[in-house]
Amino acid sequence: MAAETQNVVVLHSRPGVDKPPSESNFALERRKIPECKEGEILVKTLYLSVDPYMRCRMNEDSGSNYLTPWSIGEAPIGGGVGQVIHSRSEKFHEGDIVQSGGWPWQEFSVFPVSGDPTLQKEESPFLCAKSSLLLGIVGLTGLTSYIGLKEKAHIETGANQVVVISGAAGACGMAAGQIAKLEGCGVVVGICGTDEKCCFLTEEMGFDVAINYKTTENISEHLKMKCPAGIDVYFDNVGGEISDEVIRCMNKDSHIVLCGQISVYNKDVPYPPPLPQDIQDILQTRKITRDRFLVLNYMEKLPDGKKQLESWVREGKLKNRETIVEGLENTGKAFVEMMRGGNIGKQIVKVAEIVL
Ligand SMILES: NC(=O)c1ccc[n+]([C@@H]2O[C@H](COP(=O)([O-])OP(=O)(O)OC[C@H]3O[C@@H](n4cnc5c(N)ncnc54)[C@H](OP(=O)(O)O)[C@@H]3O)[C@@H](O)[C@H]2O)c1
Repeated sequence: MAAETQNVVVLHSRPGVDKPPSESNFALERRKIPECKEGEILVKTLYLSVDPYMRCRMNEDSGSNYLTPWSIGEAPIGGGVGQVIHSRSEKFHEGDIVQSGGWPWQEFSVFPVSGDPTLQKEESPFLCAKSSLLLGIVGLTGLTSYIGLKEKAHIETGANQVVVISGAAGACGMAAGQIAKLEGCGVVVGICGTDEKCCFLTEEMGFDVAINYKTTENISEHLKMKCPAGIDVYFDNVGGEISDEVIRCMNKDSHIVLCGQISVYNKDVPYPPPLPQDIQDILQTRKITRDRFLVLNYMEKLPDGKKQLESWVREGKLKNRETIVEGLENTGKAFVEMMRGGNIGKQIVKVAEIVL
Protein backbone atom coordinates (compact mmCIF):
# COMPACT_ATOMS: atom_id res chain seq x y z
CA MET A 1 0.00 0.00 0.00
CA ALA A 2 1.36 3.40 -0.96
CA ALA A 3 0.00 5.51 1.89
CA GLU A 4 1.55 4.99 5.31
CA THR A 5 -0.62 7.43 7.16
CA GLN A 6 -4.36 7.73 7.31
CA ASN A 7 -7.19 9.92 8.58
CA VAL A 8 -8.37 9.13 12.10
CA VAL A 9 -11.22 10.80 13.99
CA VAL A 10 -10.39 11.19 17.68
CA LEU A 11 -12.40 12.19 20.72
CA HIS A 12 -11.15 15.71 21.37
CA SER A 13 -13.29 16.63 24.40
CA ARG A 14 -16.29 15.39 26.39
CA PRO A 15 -19.66 17.17 26.11
CA GLY A 16 -19.83 17.78 29.88
CA VAL A 17 -22.57 17.13 32.41
CA ASP A 18 -26.11 17.30 31.00
CA LYS A 19 -24.91 18.69 27.65
CA PRO A 20 -25.60 17.51 24.11
CA PRO A 21 -22.61 16.37 22.03
CA SER A 22 -21.15 18.80 19.50
CA GLU A 23 -18.98 18.47 16.42
CA SER A 24 -16.16 20.17 18.32
CA ASN A 25 -15.95 17.11 20.59
CA PHE A 26 -14.25 15.36 17.67
CA ALA A 27 -11.07 16.14 15.71
CA LEU A 28 -9.42 14.75 12.59
CA GLU A 29 -5.77 13.68 12.75
CA ARG A 30 -3.22 11.97 10.49
CA ARG A 31 -1.84 8.83 12.08
CA LYS A 32 0.18 5.83 11.03
CA ILE A 33 -1.57 2.86 9.49
CA PRO A 34 -0.96 0.05 11.98
CA GLU A 35 1.32 -2.81 10.96
CA CYS A 36 -0.40 -6.14 10.22
CA LYS A 37 1.31 -8.93 12.17
CA GLU A 38 0.96 -12.71 12.10
CA GLY A 39 -2.61 -13.74 13.01
CA GLU A 40 -4.00 -10.31 12.08
CA ILE A 41 -5.89 -8.73 9.19
CA LEU A 42 -5.59 -5.24 7.76
CA VAL A 43 -9.01 -3.91 6.85
CA LYS A 44 -10.24 -0.88 4.94
CA THR A 45 -13.27 0.74 6.56
CA LEU A 46 -16.33 0.87 4.28
CA TYR A 47 -19.12 1.95 6.66
CA LEU A 48 -19.36 3.12 10.26
CA SER A 49 -22.41 3.08 12.48
CA VAL A 50 -23.26 5.98 14.77
CA ASP A 51 -25.64 5.04 17.58
CA PRO A 52 -27.33 6.73 20.54
CA TYR A 53 -25.52 4.56 23.15
CA MET A 54 -22.29 6.27 22.05
CA ARG A 55 -23.36 9.40 23.94
CA CYS A 56 -22.76 7.46 27.19
CA ARG A 57 -19.28 6.47 25.98
CA MET A 58 -18.40 10.15 25.57
CA ASN A 59 -18.68 10.65 29.35
CA GLU A 60 -15.81 9.99 31.73
CA ASP A 61 -18.06 7.44 33.41
CA SER A 62 -20.36 5.72 30.90
CA GLY A 63 -22.83 4.94 33.70
CA SER A 64 -23.10 1.38 32.45
CA ASN A 65 -21.29 -1.82 33.32
CA TYR A 66 -21.11 -3.01 29.70
CA LEU A 67 -19.92 0.23 28.05
CA THR A 68 -16.40 1.56 28.56
CA PRO A 69 -15.85 5.30 28.11
CA TRP A 70 -13.98 6.46 25.01
CA SER A 71 -10.55 7.94 25.77
CA ILE A 72 -9.63 11.52 24.92
CA GLY A 73 -7.16 11.61 22.02
CA GLU A 74 -8.17 8.12 20.85
CA ALA A 75 -10.44 7.05 18.01
CA PRO A 76 -14.00 6.33 19.21
CA ILE A 77 -14.97 2.69 18.73
CA GLY A 78 -18.30 1.32 17.54
CA GLY A 79 -19.88 -0.82 14.86
CA GLY A 80 -18.17 -0.95 11.48
CA VAL A 81 -17.90 -2.90 8.26
CA GLY A 82 -14.88 -3.18 6.02
CA GLN A 83 -12.95 -5.12 3.44
CA VAL A 84 -9.81 -7.14 4.09
CA ILE A 85 -6.89 -5.69 2.11
CA HIS A 86 -4.14 -7.82 3.66
CA SER A 87 -4.43 -11.03 5.62
CA ARG A 88 -1.91 -12.81 7.79
CA SER A 89 -4.42 -15.46 8.82
CA GLU A 90 -5.63 -18.53 6.93
CA LYS A 91 -9.19 -17.80 8.02
CA PHE A 92 -9.49 -14.52 6.07
CA HIS A 93 -8.68 -13.55 2.51
CA GLU A 94 -8.16 -10.33 0.63
CA GLY A 95 -11.55 -8.97 -0.42
CA ASP A 96 -13.52 -10.57 2.44
CA ILE A 97 -16.21 -8.40 4.00
CA VAL A 98 -15.93 -8.28 7.78
CA GLN A 99 -17.73 -6.54 10.60
CA SER A 100 -16.94 -5.83 14.23
CA GLY A 101 -18.51 -4.03 17.17
CA GLY A 102 -15.08 -2.68 18.08
CA TRP A 103 -14.33 -0.68 14.94
CA PRO A 104 -12.25 2.51 15.34
CA TRP A 105 -13.25 5.66 13.46
CA GLN A 106 -10.33 5.50 11.02
CA GLU A 107 -9.70 4.55 7.40
CA PHE A 108 -7.66 1.39 8.06
CA SER A 109 -7.58 -0.94 11.06
CA VAL A 110 -5.81 -4.07 12.12
CA PHE A 111 -7.83 -6.78 13.87
CA PRO A 112 -6.39 -9.82 15.63
CA VAL A 113 -8.35 -12.72 14.15
CA SER A 114 -8.84 -14.45 17.47
CA GLY A 115 -8.72 -11.44 19.80
CA ASP A 116 -12.00 -9.73 18.90
CA PRO A 117 -15.07 -11.87 19.68
CA THR A 118 -17.28 -9.53 17.64
CA LEU A 119 -15.17 -9.87 14.44
CA GLN A 120 -17.18 -11.77 11.81
CA LYS A 121 -16.62 -12.61 8.17
CA GLU A 122 -19.79 -12.14 6.12
CA GLU A 123 -20.70 -15.24 4.13
CA SER A 124 -23.88 -14.07 2.39
CA PRO A 125 -23.13 -12.66 -1.11
CA PHE A 126 -26.28 -10.52 -0.81
CA LEU A 127 -25.03 -8.88 2.39
CA CYS A 128 -21.47 -8.57 1.11
CA ALA A 129 -22.81 -6.55 -1.81
CA LYS A 130 -25.01 -4.41 0.49
CA SER A 131 -22.75 -4.38 3.51
CA SER A 132 -24.20 -1.24 5.14
CA LEU A 133 -27.25 -3.41 5.98
CA LEU A 134 -24.99 -5.22 8.46
CA LEU A 135 -24.99 -2.09 10.60
CA GLY A 136 -28.75 -1.53 10.43
CA ILE A 137 -31.76 -3.56 9.41
CA VAL A 138 -29.84 -6.89 9.30
CA GLY A 139 -27.43 -5.81 12.05
CA LEU A 140 -27.76 -5.02 15.71
CA THR A 141 -30.49 -2.41 15.31
CA GLY A 142 -32.74 -4.76 13.28
CA LEU A 143 -31.94 -7.54 15.72
CA THR A 144 -32.79 -5.29 18.67
CA SER A 145 -36.25 -4.73 17.24
CA TYR A 146 -36.79 -8.37 16.26
CA ILE A 147 -35.53 -9.94 19.48
CA GLY A 148 -37.01 -7.18 21.65
CA LEU A 149 -40.47 -7.86 20.23
CA LYS A 150 -40.04 -11.66 20.39
CA GLU A 151 -38.82 -11.63 23.99
CA LYS A 152 -40.74 -8.80 25.62
CA ALA A 153 -43.84 -7.90 23.59
CA HIS A 154 -45.89 -11.11 24.03
CA ILE A 155 -47.32 -10.87 20.53
CA GLU A 156 -50.09 -13.43 20.03
CA THR A 157 -51.14 -14.60 16.59
CA GLY A 158 -54.68 -13.49 15.81
CA ALA A 159 -54.97 -11.21 18.84
CA ASN A 160 -54.91 -8.10 16.65
CA GLN A 161 -52.79 -6.24 19.19
CA VAL A 162 -52.26 -2.49 19.06
CA VAL A 163 -48.59 -1.48 19.10
CA VAL A 164 -47.12 1.99 19.66
CA ILE A 165 -43.49 2.74 18.80
CA SER A 166 -41.58 5.86 19.85
CA GLY A 167 -38.49 7.00 17.95
CA ALA A 168 -40.43 5.29 15.17
CA ALA A 169 -38.65 6.75 12.14
CA GLY A 170 -35.19 5.78 13.36
CA ALA A 171 -33.29 2.55 12.83
CA CYS A 172 -34.85 0.44 15.59
CA GLY A 173 -38.24 2.11 15.30
CA MET A 174 -38.84 1.59 11.56
CA ALA A 175 -37.80 -2.07 11.95
CA ALA A 176 -39.95 -2.60 15.06
CA GLY A 177 -43.11 -1.31 13.36
CA GLN A 178 -42.67 -3.48 10.30
CA ILE A 179 -41.74 -6.57 12.32
CA ALA A 180 -44.76 -6.06 14.60
CA LYS A 181 -46.95 -6.24 11.46
CA LEU A 182 -45.06 -9.26 10.12
CA GLU A 183 -45.57 -10.99 13.48
CA GLY A 184 -49.33 -10.40 13.25
CA CYS A 185 -50.11 -7.21 15.18
CA GLY A 186 -53.26 -5.36 14.15
CA VAL A 187 -52.55 -1.64 14.40
CA VAL A 188 -49.10 -0.03 14.45
CA VAL A 189 -48.71 3.59 15.55
CA GLY A 190 -45.42 5.48 15.27
CA ILE A 191 -44.36 8.57 17.21
CA CYS A 192 -41.58 10.71 15.72
CA GLY A 193 -40.31 14.27 15.44
CA THR A 194 -41.23 15.65 11.98
CA ASP A 195 -44.07 15.56 9.46
CA GLU A 196 -41.66 14.20 6.86
CA LYS A 197 -40.94 11.28 9.17
CA CYS A 198 -44.68 10.75 9.73
CA CYS A 199 -45.22 10.47 5.94
CA PHE A 200 -42.27 8.08 5.67
CA LEU A 201 -43.85 5.82 8.31
CA THR A 202 -47.36 5.68 6.87
CA GLU A 203 -46.51 5.86 3.16
CA GLU A 204 -43.37 3.72 3.00
CA MET A 205 -43.12 1.59 6.14
CA GLY A 206 -46.73 0.41 6.46
CA PHE A 207 -47.52 2.09 9.80
CA ASP A 208 -51.25 2.75 10.27
CA VAL A 209 -50.88 6.03 12.14
CA ALA A 210 -47.99 8.43 12.75
CA ILE A 211 -47.88 11.21 15.34
CA ASN A 212 -45.46 14.15 15.34
CA TYR A 213 -44.67 14.61 19.05
CA LYS A 214 -43.32 18.10 18.44
CA THR A 215 -46.60 19.45 17.05
CA THR A 216 -49.19 17.30 18.86
CA GLU A 217 -50.36 19.05 22.00
CA ASN A 218 -51.88 16.16 23.90
CA ILE A 219 -50.36 12.86 22.80
CA SER A 220 -52.51 10.82 25.22
CA GLU A 221 -55.75 12.26 23.87
CA HIS A 222 -54.56 11.71 20.31
CA LEU A 223 -53.63 8.11 21.06
CA LYS A 224 -57.01 7.47 22.71
CA MET A 225 -58.72 8.74 19.57
CA LYS A 226 -56.56 6.65 17.21
CA CYS A 227 -56.48 3.54 19.43
CA PRO A 228 -59.96 3.28 21.01
CA ALA A 229 -59.21 -0.30 22.14
CA GLY A 230 -56.14 0.89 24.08
CA ILE A 231 -52.49 -0.05 23.63
CA ASP A 232 -51.24 -3.62 24.07
CA VAL A 233 -47.53 -3.21 23.30
CA TYR A 234 -45.27 -0.16 23.61
CA PHE A 235 -41.81 -0.35 21.98
CA ASP A 236 -40.05 2.44 23.85
CA ASN A 237 -36.99 4.02 22.27
CA VAL A 238 -37.20 7.41 23.94
CA GLY A 239 -38.59 7.45 27.52
CA GLY A 240 -39.44 10.78 29.20
CA GLU A 241 -42.72 12.61 28.70
CA ILE A 242 -43.58 10.89 25.42
CA SER A 243 -43.47 7.53 27.17
CA ASP A 244 -45.51 8.80 30.11
CA GLU A 245 -48.23 9.85 27.65
CA VAL A 246 -48.21 6.44 25.96
CA ILE A 247 -48.27 4.51 29.24
CA ARG A 248 -51.40 6.44 30.29
CA CYS A 249 -53.22 4.77 27.37
CA MET A 250 -51.95 1.23 27.92
CA ASN A 251 -54.28 -1.68 28.64
CA LYS A 252 -54.27 -3.99 31.65
CA ASP A 253 -51.71 -6.80 31.26
CA SER A 254 -49.97 -4.99 28.40
CA HIS A 255 -46.22 -4.93 27.73
CA ILE A 256 -43.44 -2.38 27.26
CA VAL A 257 -40.30 -3.28 25.32
CA LEU A 258 -37.80 -1.09 27.17
CA CYS A 259 -35.44 -0.64 24.24
CA GLY A 260 -33.90 2.76 24.96
CA GLN A 261 -34.45 6.19 26.56
CA ILE A 262 -32.80 8.60 24.15
CA SER A 263 -34.62 11.61 25.62
CA VAL A 264 -32.32 11.43 28.67
CA TYR A 265 -29.02 10.39 27.08
CA ASN A 266 -27.70 13.94 27.31
CA LYS A 267 -28.48 14.01 31.04
CA ASP A 268 -26.45 12.40 33.77
CA VAL A 269 -29.21 10.20 35.20
CA PRO A 270 -29.20 6.45 35.95
CA TYR A 271 -30.51 4.04 33.32
CA PRO A 272 -33.39 3.47 33.11
CA PRO A 273 -34.34 6.81 34.62
CA PRO A 274 -36.95 6.70 37.40
CA LEU A 275 -40.57 7.13 36.29
CA PRO A 276 -42.89 9.75 37.82
CA GLN A 277 -44.94 8.23 40.68
CA ASP A 278 -48.28 8.43 38.83
CA ILE A 279 -46.80 6.47 35.89
CA GLN A 280 -45.24 3.94 38.25
CA ASP A 281 -48.71 3.50 39.83
CA ILE A 282 -50.27 2.87 36.40
CA LEU A 283 -47.69 0.14 35.72
CA GLN A 284 -48.54 -1.53 38.99
CA THR A 285 -52.32 -1.29 38.95
CA ARG A 286 -52.59 -2.34 35.30
CA LYS A 287 -49.89 -5.04 35.66
CA ILE A 288 -47.90 -3.66 32.73
CA THR A 289 -44.52 -5.39 32.25
CA ARG A 290 -41.44 -3.19 31.70
CA ASP A 291 -38.30 -5.31 31.97
CA ARG A 292 -34.97 -3.98 30.89
CA PHE A 293 -34.01 -5.26 27.43
CA LEU A 294 -30.49 -5.45 26.03
CA VAL A 295 -29.94 -7.21 22.71
CA LEU A 296 -26.41 -8.24 23.73
CA ASN A 297 -27.95 -10.50 26.39
CA TYR A 298 -29.34 -12.68 23.59
CA MET A 299 -26.13 -13.57 21.75
CA GLU A 300 -27.31 -17.12 21.04
CA LYS A 301 -30.40 -15.78 19.23
CA LEU A 302 -28.52 -13.38 16.96
CA PRO A 303 -27.56 -15.81 14.12
CA ASP A 304 -31.14 -17.08 13.57
CA GLY A 305 -32.49 -13.56 13.96
CA LYS A 306 -30.08 -12.30 11.32
CA LYS A 307 -31.18 -15.05 8.90
CA GLN A 308 -34.83 -14.11 9.41
CA LEU A 309 -34.14 -10.40 8.87
CA GLU A 310 -32.07 -11.06 5.74
CA SER A 311 -34.77 -13.23 4.24
CA TRP A 312 -37.50 -10.65 4.97
CA VAL A 313 -35.35 -7.96 3.35
CA ARG A 314 -34.67 -10.14 0.30
CA GLU A 315 -38.36 -10.99 -0.05
CA GLY A 316 -39.23 -7.27 0.10
CA LYS A 317 -41.26 -7.77 3.30
CA LEU A 318 -38.96 -5.66 5.45
CA LYS A 319 -38.14 -2.28 3.94
CA ASN A 320 -35.08 -0.26 4.72
CA ARG A 321 -34.05 3.38 4.77
CA GLU A 322 -30.62 4.78 5.49
CA THR A 323 -29.39 8.33 5.97
CA ILE A 324 -25.86 8.20 4.61
CA VAL A 325 -23.20 10.79 5.37
CA GLU A 326 -20.11 10.56 3.17
CA GLY A 327 -16.56 10.79 4.49
CA LEU A 328 -14.78 9.62 7.63
CA GLU A 329 -14.17 13.24 8.61
CA ASN A 330 -17.95 13.71 8.97
CA THR A 331 -18.47 10.84 11.45
CA GLY A 332 -18.70 13.13 14.50
CA LYS A 333 -21.12 15.38 12.63
CA ALA A 334 -23.26 12.37 11.63
CA PHE A 335 -23.43 11.26 15.26
CA VAL A 336 -24.41 14.72 16.51
CA GLU A 337 -27.03 15.11 13.75
CA MET A 338 -28.53 11.70 14.54
CA MET A 339 -28.84 12.64 18.22
CA ARG A 340 -30.73 15.78 17.11
CA GLY A 341 -33.14 13.80 14.92
CA GLY A 342 -31.51 14.51 11.54
CA ASN A 343 -31.78 10.89 10.36
CA ILE A 344 -34.57 8.94 8.75
CA GLY A 345 -33.94 5.22 9.20
CA LYS A 346 -30.44 4.09 10.05
CA GLN A 347 -27.70 6.73 10.23
CA ILE A 348 -24.61 5.43 8.43
CA VAL A 349 -21.25 6.95 7.55
CA LYS A 350 -19.81 5.84 4.21
CA VAL A 351 -16.02 5.88 4.38
CA ALA A 352 -14.92 4.06 1.22
CA GLU A 353 -16.22 2.10 -1.78
CA ILE A 354 -16.08 -1.68 -1.81
CA VAL A 355 -13.56 -3.09 -4.31
CA LEU A 356 -15.13 -5.90 -6.32
N1 LIG B 1 -31.72 -2.25 24.14
C1 LIG B 1 -30.84 -2.47 23.19
O1 LIG B 1 -30.19 -3.50 23.14
C2 LIG B 1 -30.65 -1.41 22.14
C3 LIG B 1 -29.90 -1.64 20.99
C4 LIG B 1 -29.82 -0.62 20.01
C5 LIG B 1 -30.47 0.59 20.25
N2 LIG B 1 -31.15 0.77 21.40
C6 LIG B 1 -31.88 2.02 21.67
O2 LIG B 1 -32.86 2.21 20.68
C7 LIG B 1 -33.16 3.59 20.56
C8 LIG B 1 -33.11 3.97 19.08
O3 LIG B 1 -31.78 3.78 18.60
P1 LIG B 1 -31.47 3.89 17.03
O4 LIG B 1 -30.09 3.42 16.82
O5 LIG B 1 -32.60 3.27 16.28
O6 LIG B 1 -31.48 5.47 16.84
P2 LIG B 1 -32.43 6.29 15.84
O7 LIG B 1 -33.82 6.13 16.33
O8 LIG B 1 -32.12 5.91 14.44
O9 LIG B 1 -31.94 7.78 16.03
C9 LIG B 1 -32.21 8.51 17.16
C10 LIG B 1 -33.57 9.24 17.05
O10 LIG B 1 -34.01 9.56 18.35
C11 LIG B 1 -34.91 10.64 18.26
N3 LIG B 1 -34.70 11.55 19.41
C12 LIG B 1 -33.58 12.25 19.71
N4 LIG B 1 -33.78 12.96 20.84
C13 LIG B 1 -35.06 12.71 21.23
C14 LIG B 1 -35.88 13.16 22.33
N5 LIG B 1 -35.41 13.99 23.25
N6 LIG B 1 -37.13 12.69 22.41
C15 LIG B 1 -37.61 11.84 21.49
N7 LIG B 1 -36.92 11.37 20.44
C16 LIG B 1 -35.65 11.81 20.33
C17 LIG B 1 -34.65 11.36 16.96
O11 LIG B 1 -35.79 11.24 16.11
P3 LIG B 1 -37.05 12.26 16.19
O12 LIG B 1 -36.92 13.15 15.01
O13 LIG B 1 -38.23 11.36 16.11
O14 LIG B 1 -36.94 13.01 17.48
C18 LIG B 1 -33.47 10.58 16.35
O15 LIG B 1 -33.58 10.46 14.96
C19 LIG B 1 -32.15 4.32 21.42
O16 LIG B 1 -32.74 4.65 22.65
C20 LIG B 1 -31.05 3.29 21.61
O17 LIG B 1 -30.31 3.47 22.78
C21 LIG B 1 -31.26 -0.19 22.34
